[in-house]
Amino acid sequence: MKYHPIAKELFIENRKRFKARLDQGASAIFNSNDEMPRCGDAHFPFRQQSDIFYLSGIDQEQTVLVISPDCPLPQYREVLFLRKTNEHIAIWEGHKYTKEEAKQASGIQTIFWLEEMDSVLTVILNHSSSIFLNLNENDRYSSPVPYRDLRFAHEIKEKYASHTIGRCAPIMAELRSIKSDTEVAVMKEAMRITEMAFRRVLAFTKPGVTEYEIEAEITHEFLRNRATGHAYTPIIASGPSACVLHYTENNRVCNDGDVILMDFGAEYANYAADLTRCIPVNGKFTQRQKDVYNAVLRVMRAATAMLVPGNTIENYHKEVGYVMERELISLGLLTETEVKNQNPAAPAYKKYFMHGTSHFLGLDVHDIGDRYAPMQAGMVFTCEPGIYIPEEGLGIRIENDILITEKGQIDLMASIPIEVDEIEALMAK
Ligand code: GLY
Ligand code: MN
Ligand code: MN
Repeated sequence: MKYHPIAKELFIENRKRFKARLDQGASAIFNSNDEMPRCGDAHFPFRQQSDIFYLSGIDQEQTVLVISPDCPLPQYREVLFLRKTNEHIAIWEGHKYTKEEAKQASGIQTIFWLEEMDSVLTVILNHSSSIFLNLNENDRYSSPVPYRDLRFAHEIKEKYASHTIGRCAPIMAELRSIKSDTEVAVMKEAMRITEMAFRRVLAFTKPGVTEYEIEAEITHEFLRNRATGHAYTPIIASGPSACVLHYTENNRVCNDGDVILMDFGAEYANYAADLTRCIPVNGKFTQRQKDVYNAVLRVMRAATAMLVPGNTIENYHKEVGYVMERELISLGLLTETEVKNQNPAAPAYKKYFMHGTSHFLGLDVHDIGDRYAPMQAGMVFTCEPGIYIPEEGLGIRIENDILITEKGQIDLMASIPIEVDEIEALMAK
């Protein structure tokens, strides 16, 4: 791992909170992500499954975590199964956790090699009233590729056919949506690295650079600061490319007069930052670009103020829509009549602002959380309104990451340049 390890107390506390929500007598089982095949004998870089990381801190393939708080054998109440290393693995792949290291990293006292799993699991599950399995319950998840936890679920259901099966996912969504101080500190490190990359880009950008050169500057700054890499595929979109919401080709030359929309974030210790900034290629916004930029900035600030305990995501998006509507009228993009006659189910502003304003952020960039529950202190949301005008070859989105507290919001990206004057001054240096 490139990052400094997180102290095990976080994972001990996370397991404690998980156990408090688990049914009496139940056992819960968590698997690592698969090592995804790329071609021939090669794999994509391994990324730990976020829930097992959250509960154990173990960042290694093929790990299995079993939590069984009421197990009659106390030593089996928390158990980790690890891939057993050997000389061959050490030479070809490098270091893997020893049992002692896994204990230190996770705070779990009982560590077995994977080959012992069948027999130990039999004992644990024979004395469990139900088995909680960890499936991907993201509403937008859709993939024909079966993943490790899903394959495991089929095996368990076949083998323990008379057990009741429970769902870890709703518990994990509830737990992970509220960030502890330690998690916020780790996320801030991801954001600090992201800020350094943005400042580097401000100094680097000039007419004639290509989008991938900017991407390269960002990647360089990420890696030299211990980020694992990008938390998601970065969007470096100059001129009209900015109106393609998921543009990731990043292969266009940035021309004098264009604005570049850049949406990127570092992944540090498996936590994500998620930033969007827009800058003028030549260092100076035109009046029109400035007007659109400042409209988006006002919407962002108004939206940030609505991220308060008790608000709901649904109501929030509706309210942000009203603010955006006024700005689009001021910019001459919508008329009062269009707004008056709009179909409330498909508001007119959606023509220029077609995505949501906020999503949960944490271990995953689009983190898990209950979208239908009220907002609470400890949640981290992005705030990212945008205005996209293909006919003007201009797209502006501004995105910061916001922590909700009882005493108001904390903008975790408050130190990242955002005002037009600030950006122009830094680019003029
Ligand atoms: N970077 C992905 C998003 O902003 O949602
Ligand atoms: Mn985002
Ligand atoms: Mn983003």
